[in-house]
Amino acid sequence: MNVRIFVAETNHIIHTQKICDLIYLSAQQRGTGIATRSPEYIAEKIQSGKAVIALDGDKAVGFSYIETWSHGLFVANSGLIVAHDYRNRGLARRIKRAIFGLSRTLFPNAKIFSITTGLAVMKLNTELGYRPVPFSELTDDSDFWDGCQGCKNYDILERNDRAICLCTGMLYDPDLHPESAQTPLPHQADMKSAPTSKHNT
Ligand SMILES: CC(C)(COP(=O)(O)OP(=O)(O)OC[C@H]1O[C@@H](n2cnc3c(N)ncnc32)[C@H](O)[C@@H]1OP(=O)(O)O)[C@@H](O)C(=O)NCCC(=O)NCCS
Repeated sequence: MNVRIFVAETNHIIHTQKICDLIYLSAQQRGTGIATRSPEYIAEKIQSGKAVIALDGDKAVGFSYIETWSHGLFVANSGLIVAHDYRNRGLARRIKRAIFGLSRTLFPNAKIFSITTGLAVMKLNTELGYRPVPFSELTDDSDFWDGCQGCKNYDILERNDRAICLCTGMLYDPDLHPESAQTPLPHQADMKSAPTSKHNT
């Protein structure tokens, strides 16, 4: 296995369907409901440079993308997926670091947040400096919360006026990390040793 991570570019659009298939399959396996991501939506994220892709040769094996909310005040790193055969080898950690670094570069003043029930994502977020917070600290952009409609727990969120649900809210506040303006971000540090593309991470 020789997996390399790239900030996605137009030439990666050929992997769109494979990425959608990975997301769909994993949602089915987890039984948490399916957050719909159309191939067009994934392609747009790739085209606009707001995604990170993990490739083993020419095979897509991991992905994550950036979404902005509340007119850019908040950023979420979404759609994290690692192909089944590539799990438990640290690949999600590499992808998360890369998409986090890309988010900090593109949106240096935005708060970065996540809602998750997954221990792996909680661990990785904590490593990056996220803290658990109530939903009141996250975006109030209704389009974001509408995106929970595919989750089987959506009725719980609705019953609680979108203030409480089973997910834990986690937030990275750049104002609490003034050192990150000077410290090389993980993906920048990785880029130094990258062999071919300036977009390697
Ligand atoms: C969750 C997922 C991205 C993890 O990918 P991965 O490449 O296996 O994760 P890593 O190997 O980088 O592991 C990162 C950390 O999470 C832990 N971890 C990984 N999978 C875990 C799981 N299912 N349960 C608990 N901890 C887990 C690892 O032990 C590691 O922590 P450690 O270094 O303290 O041991 C992958 O299982 C996946 O794609 N799942 C389906 C989609 C999904 O759940 N996405 C997240 C949506 S919020």
